[in-house]
Amino acid sequence: MSTFDLSGYLSRNRKLVDDALISIFGKLDRQRELVRAMTHSLMAGGKRVRPALALATAHALGADPAIALPASCAIEMIHTYSLIHDDLPGMDDDDLRRGVPTCHKQFSEATAILAGDGLLTHAFHILAAPGSCFKVFPGAETRLILVEKISAAAGINGMVEGQMLDMQAEKNPGDLPRDSAEALAHLKKIHRHKTGAMIEVSVASGAVSAGAGSDALTALGTYAQNIGLAFQVMDDILNVEGDPEIMGKAVGTDALHDKMTFPAILGLQGSKDFSKQLISDALDALNSYKEEEFKEKSEPLRAIAGYIINRKR
Ligand code: IPE
Ligand code: IPE
Ligand code: MG
Ligand code: MG
Repeated sequence: MSTFDLSGYLSRNRKLVDDALISIFGKLDRQRELVRAMTHSLMAGGKRVRPALALATAHALGADPAIALPASCAIEMIHTYSLIHDDLPGMDDDDLRRGVPTCHKQFSEATAILAGDGLLTHAFHILAAPGSCFKVFPGAETRLILVEKISAAAGINGMVEGQMLDMQAEKNPGDLPRDSAEALAHLKKIHRHKTGAMIEVSVASGAVSAGAGSDALTALGTYAQNIGLAFQVMDDILNVEGDPEIMGKAVGTDALHDKMTFPAILGLQGSKDFSKQLISDALDALNSYKEEEFKEKSEPLRAIAGYIINRKR
């Protein structure tokens, strides 16, 4: 049994990321409504799982985790923009996020759209010009690779496409595959795009920032694919049996909208079994990378994998 203190590790990393985000936004005029709308959602208390993965990956490869901080902040800003837009009336129409009113409820729909636009754009600005916010950052060539990978994961072949497929599955259920194996394959495709891609790129960004070689990238890529899918399977499970007080967002909404989810196709127990299998495959992938110090240094990555399916929020 591991004695690794994951909750201490996550809260130390959360502080690191929050301090960096505060320093990024401290330079902007907080009287401006646009900036207030962006920080309302960004600083509301997300779990910061994606930054934790990037920092833990850099650590696992023997680097100073701070090297992954610019990518971590960019990814968290993009993730937050995706949540602001996901909650809009034209999308999931949710009122509560991260324990506070959604951005459009607190401000206005138009402001929430612009707050999302602002977070997405500024994420790439800090990657291009990290000098004013970060003491340590990767060189220009590495940052170009980060821009390439993060924009691919967030964009039209990643998260945005996943949101589109997710929306289409809800709006046009008649177009969905009827055969359950096909339905499952389609659902995996949706989840890998809408959630998996940003989780995968969190790990990849930590690795790239740390100057990973190809063997490490392969093992970490398989780890990330598995935990990325497991993360959304767990999100579906929590939407059925989670506590809205703990989660800070509504539950029961997927069934209400008759959404295509893992519990809807595999049942609750089937979904839990599937998520456990994914985490076991993720850990196997880490075991396949034999570098001497990696076994010990990848302990936070192992612990985060377990947390993904044991979390309550
Ligand atoms: C919620 O993500 C949306 C999904 C992609 C499943 P998180 O569960 O990471 O939400 P925060 O960042 O902690 O609010
Ligand atoms: C959100 O997915 C995924 C993204 C924002 C990319 P969901 O709509 O399923 O997640 P929650 O339940 O609103 O967090
Ligand atoms: Mg959604
Ligand atoms: Mg939603």
